[in-house]
Amino acid sequence: MADRSDLTPATLGGALAEGAARLAAAGIEGARRDARLLLAAAAGLEPAAVVAWPERPLPPAAEAAFRSLVARRAAREPVARILGRREFWSLSFAISPATLDPRPDSETLVEALLARTPDRRRPLAVLDLGTGSGCLLLALLSELPAAWGLGLDRSQEAVRVARGNGEALGLGQRAGFLVGDWGAALAPRAPTQRFDLIVSNPPYLADDELAALEPEVGRHDPRGALEGGPDGLEAYRTLAMDLPRLLRPGGWAAIEIGAGQSASAAAVLAAGGLAPAALLPDLAGRPRALLIHASDAEKTL
Ligand SMILES: C[S@@+](CC[C@H](N)C(=O)[O-])C[C@H]1O[C@@H](n2cnc3c(N)ncnc32)[C@H](O)[C@@H]1O
Repeated sequence: MADRSDLTPATLGGALAEGAARLAAAGIEGARRDARLLLAAAAGLEPAAVVAWPERPLPPAAEAAFRSLVARRAAREPVARILGRREFWSLSFAISPATLDPRPDSETLVEALLARTPDRRRPLAVLDLGTGSGCLLLALLSELPAAWGLGLDRSQEAVRVARGNGEALGLGQRAGFLVGDWGAALAPRAPTQRFDLIVSNPPYLADDELAALEPEVGRHDPRGALEGGPDGLEAYRTLAMDLPRLLRPGGWAAIEIGAGQSASAAAVLAAGGLAPAALLPDLAGRPRALLIHASDAEKTL
């Protein structure tokens, strides 16, 4: 973007065009969309208003704020990180440097578990292992009005953010959050507690994949949300041991997997006594999650 001395017309339309051009020149995909979101934030408007009123003047303070947001995006900081918020399952989540920026493809897990819940008014117990911002648990609770849920994460700061999201979404009364190490965290507190639905998007990147990440991911998502050990499968090994005792007979679990992990993650889970019942594709048709039914687990235990 030009600076104030360039006599740029300080209107929404002019700023949007310049911001989009600057982002496009920096190689940002979806430059105009990102510029619109950043301009809306800087001007304190809804994104649709930015497009609807191109002639509207942009006050100097908002213009300066927009310029600084565009510079951050041009340096490959994701829009959700800049704004501190991400929409997931049509709900707005606060995120922080301690939480993963939720990915739209993870909605596949929510969809799959809801599809296996014919009566959504039952008082179900839901567990989210590695909850991050709480997006998976809270999306499920938003659709299951009588359910309660527990979100667990190793990161204390992530748990703080998830708890805040639960409160902000009006789901705090039905959502508990706990700091701890996978299922081991539950053993001392609730040794016999079982869950009807379990969801988990664990860290699953192998060491060599970590080195090749896009800056948006590698510089901004927390390492602890990405690192799956040398082969990317470490978390699945622990989940394979935890799930059989945590999933109620007849219950369902949806576990996200990384690219190329459908066979290896399924084998790890099967070795722990769980035979995945289905492979779930995401919106692009790529294998995104393994679906487990507790009756399968019970048979093989
Ligand atoms: C890929 S992120 C998923 C976050 C969120 N569920 C989502 O989908 O956006 C994985 C999460 O697992 C958490 N995690 C990593 N190791 C863990 C462990 N040993 N016990 C509990 N949580 C862990 C990380 O802190 C991170 O929040």
